[in-house]
Amino acid sequence: MAGATQHAHWSSKWAFMLAAVGSAVGLGNIWKFPYEAGQGGGGAFVLVYLIFVFVIGVPMLVAELSLGRRGQMSPINSMAKIAKEEGRSPLWSLIGWSGVVGAFIVISFYSVVGGWTLAYMAKSAMGAFSGITAAASQETFLAYISDPVMTIVSHVAFMGITIFIVAKGVQGGLEKAVTLLMPALFALLLILVIYSAFNGAFVATLDFLFNPDFDQLFYKETVLASGEVTRHFSLDTVLQALGQSFFSLSLALGSIMTYGSYLRRDVNLGKSAVIIASADSAVALMAGLAIFPIVFAYGLDVGQGGGLVFMTLPIAFGQMPLGGLVGTLFFALLAVAAVTSAISLLEPPVSYVAEKTSMSRRKVAITMGVAAGLLGVLSAYSQGSNLLSDVRIFGVNIMDAKDFLTNNIMMPLAGMFTALFVGWFVSRKAMMDELAIEDRSFRIWYFLVRFVSPIAVGVIFVKIIFDTIAG
Ligand code: PFF
Repeated sequence: MAGATQHAHWSSKWAFMLAAVGSAVGLGNIWKFPYEAGQGGGGAFVLVYLIFVFVIGVPMLVAELSLGRRGQMSPINSMAKIAKEEGRSPLWSLIGWSGVVGAFIVISFYSVVGGWTLAYMAKSAMGAFSGITAAASQETFLAYISDPVMTIVSHVAFMGITIFIVAKGVQGGLEKAVTLLMPALFALLLILVIYSAFNGAFVATLDFLFNPDFDQLFYKETVLASGEVTRHFSLDTVLQALGQSFFSLSLALGSIMTYGSYLRRDVNLGKSAVIIASADSAVALMAGLAIFPIVFAYGLDVGQGGGLVFMTLPIAFGQMPLGGLVGTLFFALLAVAAVTSAISLLEPPVSYVAEKTSMSRRKVAITMGVAAGLLGVLSAYSQGSNLLSDVRIFGVNIMDAKDFLTNNIMMPLAGMFTALFVGWFVSRKAMMDELAIEDRSFRIWYFLVRFVSPIAVGVIFVKIIFDTIAG
């Protein structure tokens, strides 16, 4: 069987840690986290997000890594195999299916935004941001995402790089890329935070990010046609924070399970999960600390959505000494962080198809990457005033619709069933053997995956479905 011979392993524990952090740290931290925090009212979102990361995310990381390591196959076949060993229904493999299909959908639009980072790297290198005003920066971004040629060129370039590395296998390009470049991204972010602290509205930022206004979490304001503003109860922000915590930790899309399948048994999963989550949260917070001082200093709108990072940071790069260079480096490193995440999104579909067919890994990577790339064209064209920007699916554009479907529906469902599976349908003894951690830690973990994760995710999920149907 093709899959059996191809199933690789990490060359060391360190390589696994870097790849897992590489998967977690990406556009989700630097692009998505700041704009979602902005839309979710700042501190309240950040606090709930961090609670979700450590109370639900870390135990879920452990659960997914352990399932992958035990199964030693793609998420679909790992789930089928473990369900069979435990005498459970083969339907549990649907968790794997949801991951593989979800990852395929996410990579299709992730690559579009990945392309933006490449285009912005080029723009910065060509001096496009030198002395740029806030208004010009907004215009530059809108003109770029509305350009049917440039957006596709950058999307294709990004997907091409991802396919190239996935085709080579986990040990080739991936391990080398992350060892050097992840620390470099970290250092550069730190420089940007320091720059923003001195040159932007830092105190306002600290207040915004760390002084929660809980009203923002439970109420939503709607402006009626009459101009009147109404407030109503809404858990949208809480759900968004949950979705973001899953997305940022690469959960529920099969990526972490697939990386777990390349693991040997000598890795401590609990410790690894805490390190991954801490590094991931640190990068997200640093991105917020770098971006919001500029947003406030220039009176920009914190809730403007997906363009936030691309419209604000160029203003800072345009003014700081050596800004052209710093900007180019920043977008280059962001592109690298995005590629190491994109690889982990392409991995689950590729590992499944490689198991199922006799095609070489290279061919499978190219086929799946090109297919996802084609699906991604729809997302690229849904932005700004691009060709398909008028198409609405349930009231939102194509990219947002894919994001909603994966982030708010497929991921919470897959996450909830994964927790239920390891908590209630795999024997306690088998889980204890797999995790091999001390008794107390095991009991805490077991309690969290049996009760806290499924209930929290379930309640929030039901609420969003109810809101969507009612609203
Ligand atoms: N965690 C990545 C990020 O924050 O950008 C995105 C991601 C990768 C999500 C892999 C899900 C996944 F399975």
